[in-house]
Amino acid sequence: ACNGTDTGADQGATDAIIVAAGRGERAGAGAPKQYRDLDGEPVLLRSLRGFLTLPDIRRVVVVVRAEDRGLFDAAVAGLGAEYSGRLMSVDGGATRQASVRHGLEALASMASPPAQVLIHDAARPWASAALILRAIAAARTHGAAVPGLAVSDTIKSVDACGQVTATLPRPALRAIQTPQAFRFAAIVDAHRRAVGEPAEFTDDAAIAEWAGLPVHVFEGEAANSKITHPHDFQTPHCQPPAANLIS
Ligand code: CTP
Ligand code: MG
Repeated sequence: ACNGTDTGADQGATDAIIVAAGRGERAGAGAPKQYRDLDGEPVLLRSLRGFLTLPDIRRVVVVVRAEDRGLFDAAVAGLGAEYSGRLMSVDGGATRQASVRHGLEALASMASPPAQVLIHDAARPWASAALILRAIAAARTHGAAVPGLAVSDTIKSVDACGQVTATLPRPALRAIQTPQAFRFAAIVDAHRRAVGEPAEFTDDAAIAEWAGLPVHVFEGEAANSKITHPHDFQTPHCQPPAANLIS
């Protein structure tokens, strides 16, 4: 039996943080990946719009590298006044973890902090409204919740010499995405406590787990992939069938 964690089903406001302060080094030369064009629009504008157009989200904080201010301003210039009024931005940090914390502290310092917060990678422009709504609902029920997909490949751990050390049990594995959703007070507390920890936290769920919070996994989306390498700029659900690639 799988029991949900009773968090008191908080129905207060939900805000979102979009982390966009990375350099995008694996995606190759040119502007950082979140500012590059994807079917006629910057990646960041696509990632952002999914949140700004949902009435369930009160405000959106984008975390931006100081050097990228001009790129950010240009990317959001086309947003209508009805959306830009709910948008704010703060400076990023040296790591994703620090960038998220800057966003959390910005919300914590406001007159009315949110009850829930969604944390999303600017590099995931394909998250659907349905996925975002699932994240909000899951945060209300479980306190900490992240989208995950069953894996189809067999996953093995290897040592530094490339020798297999274990084959992991596939039914229990999930590939984890964003938006990750949390009760605001709990994730702010976890992030503050994690400052200075030597551990490398690659997502916010890992910080929540480290802080002892139970984290629930809800169904992610195959199309919600993260742009990481140059070839990822192709829309995942519009890729040509393999036959076209070899004809
Ligand atoms: N990010 C951030 N601040 C950092 C590092 C990353 O806000 N100091 C953001 C990125 O902009 C991205 C998300 O975290 O939206 C996920 O990180 P990743 O895919 O690793 O992006 P980059 O760090 O930009 O890319 P790379 O690691 O290839 O340089
Ligand atoms: Mg990175």
